[in-house]
Amino acid sequence: MAIYVTGDTHGADSHGFFSVDGYMRRFSMDAFPEQREMTKEDYVIICGDFGGVWATDRFSPDESSSEKSSLDWLNNRPFTTLFVPGNHENYDRLMGCRNQRLMDSWFYSGMSAENKERLRQGYPRMFWNGGYVRAVRPSVLMLERGYIFKIDGKSCFAFGGARSHDIQDGSLDPADYPDEASFNKAYRARRGRMFRVRGISWWDEEMPSREEMDMGRRNIESFVQQGKIDFVFTHEAPASDKVFLNYPARDELSLYLESLRNIMTYDKWFYGHLHDNRRMFQNHYLLYEQILPIC
Ligand SMILES: [Fe+2]
Repeated sequence: MAIYVTGDTHGADSHGFFSVDGYMRRFSMDAFPEQREMTKEDYVIICGDFGGVWATDRFSPDESSSEKSSLDWLNNRPFTTLFVPGNHENYDRLMGCRNQRLMDSWFYSGMSAENKERLRQGYPRMFWNGGYVRAVRPSVLMLERGYIFKIDGKSCFAFGGARSHDIQDGSLDPADYPDEASFNKAYRARRGRMFRVRGISWWDEEMPSREEMDMGRRNIESFVQQGKIDFVFTHEAPASDKVFLNYPARDELSLYLESLRNIMTYDKWFYGHLHDNRRMFQNHYLLYEQILPIC
């Protein structure tokens, strides 16, 4: 049995010849031939920005046809895919939409009550190997934040999420507008600027809640009695790593992750988000397209 880990995949497809994005290319037999020897008892863990559940449909919470066929392809790989969420995930569809204001707005006015209820649920939530996951497919699972999972005999703390750094020009909220025409007008006026749209290309849940952070800390504190955590999987980097890499490091999540370093002993820490491949501080790994065997 084995665990491999990689960085952001940003959806199924790669965008252009030089793109390293897209899980279908990265996990193809050519790019990842190790899978020939793998079974569903082996794991590939994506450090956030999985992006395989992305599309927003105003009328249905269902997968788009390309999402469905790509996720089926991934499910049919001879390994189990796990991912922590990043900042580029459709949290409404993954974990259930909690944005009642958007649900009540013109944006979802054409969605049936039954579909709205399904959108509120997200993918099935189940307890798996020590924590809760969202089952996108039987062997494509999102690890919820704050749990210590037992994966291939290893203790793995998972804590996804990050603040988007590509929304310098802010965000638009469809629920702030009375109708589609006024929203489209505001959208057109922002063309060419770096912004995202709440509930369509940006979700508040990219950052963890206070409850999730407290739970993660409590779970680590109670695990300390049992011993060392083997692996930490996050999307965001701890603050000291970001300082070293010349990134702003004072956001709440980076500081939270930094604080966890002081209360746990762990073997290795893996994160994505910064779109590079670096080994840091002996046992920290920033990953993008590299697929690293870790046990
Ligand atoms: Fe990313």
